Amino acid sequence: MSRATILIADDESTARAGLRSILTEEGYEVLEAEDGEAALQLLGQHAPEVVLSDVRMPRRDGNSLLRAAKEQGSDASFVMMTAFGTIESAVEAMRAGAENYVIKPIDVGALLVFIEKALEKRRLVHEAEGLRERVRERYKLEGIIGDSPELQSVFEVVKRAAPTKATVLVLGESGTGKELVAQALHELSPRKDKPFVKVSCAALSETLLESELFGHEKGSFTGAAGRREGRFEAADGGTLFLDEIGEISPTVQVKLLRVLQTRSFERVGGTAPVQVDVRIVAATNRDLLAEVKAGRFREDLYYRLNVVAVTLPPLRRRRMDIPGLAAHFIEKYAKAYGKELRGLAPGTLHALLSHDWPGNVRELENAIERAVVLCQSAELSADDLPTTLRGPRPETRDAQSLIPGATFAQIEREAILRTLELCQGSTARAAEMLDISVRKIQYRLKEYSGDVKPGDAPE
Ligand SMILES: Nc1ncnc2c1ncn2[C@@H]1O[C@H](COP(=O)(O)OP(=O)(O)OP(=O)(O)O)[C@@H](O)[C@H]1O
Ligand SMILES: [Mg+2]
Repeated sequence: MSRATILIADDESTARAGLRSILTEEGYEVLEAEDGEAALQLLGQHAPEVVLSDVRMPRRDGNSLLRAAKEQGSDASFVMMTAFGTIESAVEAMRAGAENYVIKPIDVGALLVFIEKALEKRRLVHEAEGLRERVRERYKLEGIIGDSPELQSVFEVVKRAAPTKATVLVLGESGTGKELVAQALHELSPRKDKPFVKVSCAALSETLLESELFGHEKGSFTGAAGRREGRFEAADGGTLFLDEIGEISPTVQVKLLRVLQTRSFERVGGTAPVQVDVRIVAATNRDLLAEVKAGRFREDLYYRLNVVAVTLPPLRRRRMDIPGLAAHFIEKYAKAYGKELRGLAPGTLHALLSHDWPGNVRELENAIERAVVLCQSAELSADDLPTTLRGPRPETRDAQSLIPGATFAQIEREAILRTLELCQGSTARAAEMLDISVRKIQYRLKEYSGDVKPGDAPE
């Protein structure tokens, strides 16, 4: 570990010299300033971990130095050195964010303890920040929200597959996030600075799709005025996202199979082979294996596409993702519509959790967007949601009216849902506030949305 740097700001040169020799002996790197201005400059240049600052100094006193340092964005820990007459200012400095103060003449032992404490605190803060970063990383993947085990394992596969060139087949009902996963695969790959090209296979007729994918030579079919590059060529070096792959005709299936086998193709009406370096991600909301069994989708193509499969479960099977997703969309649309919103009003999460979400995340996103637009207060309430998902009115929500009369399970439910509403859906923060485990919250959420029988013990 590198040595901590300490800046001594004091106008008395003998005091500085004394401290310097002690601190150097202790193994610290030492900087000296003879007044507040000089100290501020050194702070900017060297970012010392700790500042030992005299209170009374020319050009800028200790408190003013502390404030200016904070304004500059310095995170140095301040220990003030004060004479009896200036204890008041030292206390003021503490209020302004100094770590501690020592009274002159300085008790060196105490000073060294303060310095160690300040450094230890910094280490802990940095560790906690690192931990928070890692927690965020665990829950988020390029804007994809989901702390359910189901989505976490999707993230795991995406992270592992992304850096490779393997073809990925993304499966899942409409609105489950297939396109988002396709984009994440690209963004997390070494191809991220090359094009990400999407083709909606269902939107085009067979002829148009062929020419869209492979391009065409001049006059190759009616309407083909000039020569045109296809999407395969456009995606060269990058990723080609074939959306709704389950819809392609047998002819295009054959052509696609050939590209996957040989990485080359001919433009429509052309004979010269075109070579491309393209990573393919395909998606469908159909049960592709059933299509294969029914003879509508080529088995060999299916296996070529399905090198790595990512299956996104429907939202109703991972309802514990609802609080986090709702919070994510509230933030997104509050920003988009310029509204100040705190989050969900009491009882709203209950309505969101009880709904079946046939349209999956897209339906939730649309419901929240609509609610943000309609909302008249600082919190989204059930009344702002589409009528289909308002559900039965929840009982009165304040704790006063629950006790006595409610069962412990009911009180616990109110406590968990209200805390989640206040924590913007973060199960981690809610667990911390309630001093229970995240697993317990996740389990209860499953229970409240009817996924497990109440009273079953958490796994
Ligand atoms: N886990 C998630 N986190 C954040 N946003 C999500 C998540 N899943 C889906 N969304 C959002 O929901 C909407 C629908 O997602 P997407 O378009 O990826 O679904 P899809 O599976 O491709 O649907 P379809 O089959 O209808 O094309 C998008 O706006 C997307 O950003
Ligand atoms: Mg899609």
